[in-house]
Amino acid sequence: MLMSDTNQFPEVSLLRFIRHSLEILKNPLPFHRANFLKYGNFFRLNIGFGKSVIFIRDADFLSYVLQKNQRNFSKSSIQTKDLAKYIGRGLLTSEGEEWQKQRRLIQPAFHKSQLSLLLQMVNAVIERELNKIKINQEFDVFPVFNDLAFQTVVKSLFSSEISDFELRQLQNTTEITQQMLVKELRQPYLGWWFKLTGKIQYHINLIDQSRDILQKLVTQRKQSEIKHNDLLDILLDAKYEDGSSMKDTQLLDEILILFAAGHETTSNALTFTCELIARNPVVQLKILDEIKEVKKESCDLMLWIKNAKYIKAVIEESMRLYPPAYFIDRVNNEKDCFKDFDLPKKSNLLFSVYEIHRHPDFWEDPELFKPERFLDENVKFSKNYFPFGAGQRMCIGNNFAMYEMILTIINMVERYEIVEKKTPIKIKPLITLKPLDAVLEFKTRQ
Ligand code: HEM
Repeated sequence: MLMSDTNQFPEVSLLRFIRHSLEILKNPLPFHRANFLKYGNFFRLNIGFGKSVIFIRDADFLSYVLQKNQRNFSKSSIQTKDLAKYIGRGLLTSEGEEWQKQRRLIQPAFHKSQLSLLLQMVNAVIERELNKIKINQEFDVFPVFNDLAFQTVVKSLFSSEISDFELRQLQNTTEITQQMLVKELRQPYLGWWFKLTGKIQYHINLIDQSRDILQKLVTQRKQSEIKHNDLLDILLDAKYEDGSSMKDTQLLDEILILFAAGHETTSNALTFTCELIARNPVVQLKILDEIKEVKKESCDLMLWIKNAKYIKAVIEESMRLYPPAYFIDRVNNEKDCFKDFDLPKKSNLLFSVYEIHRHPDFWEDPELFKPERFLDENVKFSKNYFPFGAGQRMCIGNNFAMYEMILTIINMVERYEIVEKKTPIKIKPLITLKPLDAVLEFKTRQ
């Protein structure tokens, strides 16, 4: 196809952008929805200073970028620069050969067979964290799942060698650094102020303290004779093609990246799933029935996970409606085209996973919570469903996250009844799609 220089994406003016800026700062999703409804599956948003972003809710276009022609697309500077300055260069934040070398090395640590060795420990963390659920009173459940998800990643890496104090310190730093990054991205015009007042350096120093904790743990492990069969053992044993191992500095960056990528996404998904269950009592009863069946047949955790098909469908449907990674961004290295649309070199593309997952052309009753749709083997949902991305940069922790979430739902619904709730679910879209005021009530099951 011949490419012209003409911009064919309908344009949303800078004026309209400015007029809605306050509302966009709070929650940009209604603004995006209004533009998609007006212009179709694509629009170019003029954000000033000669810059624009192309917003897309076309699943084929996303497959083209992530799979068919992925070589021509890189991540935007949000991950490769803004995030990387805190957590370094590793899987999430690097590109090209550097990324590929790391992915090849780390991938085996996340194979199903390897993850199965972690399940007992993951389940123990879940059981312990669920004790924090308060009975017969309303409370925000997000912090419980947030701790649960962080502990799971940390303990999968370090088994029980890490103290509670160190764990808290790592979690606090991970969280407040992400908050700083949100500020930087939301208020780019204050970048000079953040630098001048030392805020950015303060957070870089905090992350350096986390690196010190991690370095101590890694050194201890290297000196130890004991095999733990956790992720750290595998990462330390892993060899590049030339037979060498990962350097400590690189290993610490990768660990920081697993913390950042693995805990908030999972806690968001668990919270939204819990909120949806509270609003759908029939679903809760079906989950309970399935738990009884699954547990009757075996006490093998991997078999529970395999047999909990309905629970898996509930989580999948929850991530369709509330995808934690609600945007995927890419920039094309060379000029390109998709169908009739020209993409000049270095176009900023923002795929709204949130809108693709609710597109009326792809989904029947897109706004309704219907877990059964994921039980239908005949329907190939993967074509329009991207909770973990797609292609070679697809989430490396997707199975880890699914196992953890299924075990959490099994343990939670077996122990507690989530009291029915009728008010709408509230969201807070930041770097990830977060729940807002996820206040629920639990009762002990009789
Ligand atoms: C429900 C939970 C999770 C969701 C929804 C999620 C979603 C995603 C998505 C959409 C991507 C691709 C981003 C892109 O292409 O721009 C990604 C990448 C990644 N995720 Fe996850 N993730 C989850 C859990 C986890 C966990 C538990 C871990 C690790 C313990 C993890 C580690 C990573 C890493 C390292 C990458 C970068 C992979 C690469 O570029 O090679 N994620 N995740």
